Amino acid sequence: MNIATQAAQIGLDWDSRTGAVTVPIYQTATFRHPGLGQSTGYDYSRSGNPTRQALEEGMARLDRGARGFAYSTGMAAITSILFLFKSGDHLVVTEDLYGGTYRLFEQCLNQYGLSFTYVDTSDMDAVRRAIRPATKALFVESLTNPMLKVADIGALSELCREKGLLHIVDNTFLTPYLLRPLDLGADISLYSGTKYLSGHNDTLSGLVVVKEPALAERVYFHQNSIGAVLGPQDAWLTMRGIKTLSVRLDRQQENAQKIAQWLTAQPQVRRVYYPGLTDHPGHELLKRQARGFGAMISFQVIDPALVEPLLLKSTVISFAESLGGVESLITFPAVQTHADIEPEKREKLGITNTLLRLSVGIEDVNDLIADLAQAFEPGTDRGPGTWNVEHKNIRT
Ligand SMILES: Cc1ncc(COP(=O)(O)O)c(C=O)c1O
Repeated sequence: MNIATQAAQIGLDWDSRTGAVTVPIYQTATFRHPGLGQSTGYDYSRSGNPTRQALEEGMARLDRGARGFAYSTGMAAITSILFLFKSGDHLVVTEDLYGGTYRLFEQCLNQYGLSFTYVDTSDMDAVRRAIRPATKALFVESLTNPMLKVADIGALSELCREKGLLHIVDNTFLTPYLLRPLDLGADISLYSGTKYLSGHNDTLSGLVVVKEPALAERVYFHQNSIGAVLGPQDAWLTMRGIKTLSVRLDRQQENAQKIAQWLTAQPQVRRVYYPGLTDHPGHELLKRQARGFGAMISFQVIDPALVEPLLLKSTVISFAESLGGVESLITFPAVQTHADIEPEKREKLGITNTLLRLSVGIEDVNDLIADLAQAFEPGTDRGPGTWNVEHKNIRT
């Protein structure tokens, strides 16, 4: 069955007792036992909740794995997966990755004896060179945040098999609709479900799909032990989002392609990073391994002085964190999503004071382009508004 159909019908056959078309929200912490040593299959919602389980099973089907797991956020999902490792273990990681993941690895997990080497995972030789005797896994973003580099998931999985490493793919930017990491040989795919899967900027969630049942058992043990599970309301919202994943992403990609092309022709723009552009170094690879190029665009403007007006004068596009929702958002990675990466590392990766990241939504593309065009023009302002302003360093 096509993934668009599977996504639209997630949870459809869950409640055979009533035939409910959407999964009911089982807003309960605990479940009664029929007798001593007996269970309905549900005991306590951290260990298992029917609404969460419907999402987890649906995700496992979408990503073709043995089992799915839902967490309170994408970071909770990554943290739980990293509990598979022990002190002394080493992981090779995409160098251009979400700043929050970098912070988790370098400021939290390294205290427990885990170590990480960051490499350009679009460069197979660099990955091979970074592997040491203590290396246990390769952690890759399939399409990197924010520079949109493309990793060859199939080739990296083969390398992992050869070296006995676990291959973990953060597939947030592509989703199973565009790329299925487990089909290409990875062991674990994971997602900030907050983004394209939920798709409406209205809930946080994290999702994991594990290919093999034995590994899935270990992941379940950690999910239940750590307890950062997704609540039933948010599991329901995530499923509701997944139902429209294919139509949203089709539209978002179509918009992104047009906007990326428009941006390349603007005199204020030095460089556009979008894998749908034929001159993007990952274009051919992504064309081969994915259904599309996604809807994230990063671009460098020619002058840092253009950044603030662009963020503040956009009105259709919101200046806000996050990505993947129906509403278009623009962010300034150097001071927002990637602020916890050291400045010299950021600079080397291209996350400079002229880099902006655009998450393209489902709005009419002409409105989005007109919004960017007016924001590039000198002098216009959206006025004071009614904001409750607090001055602080934004770190998400
Ligand atoms: C690629 C990627 N992975 C993980 C996360 C973390 O997800 P969450 O914000 O749901 O914790 C993000 C958040 O932006 C992300 O972009």
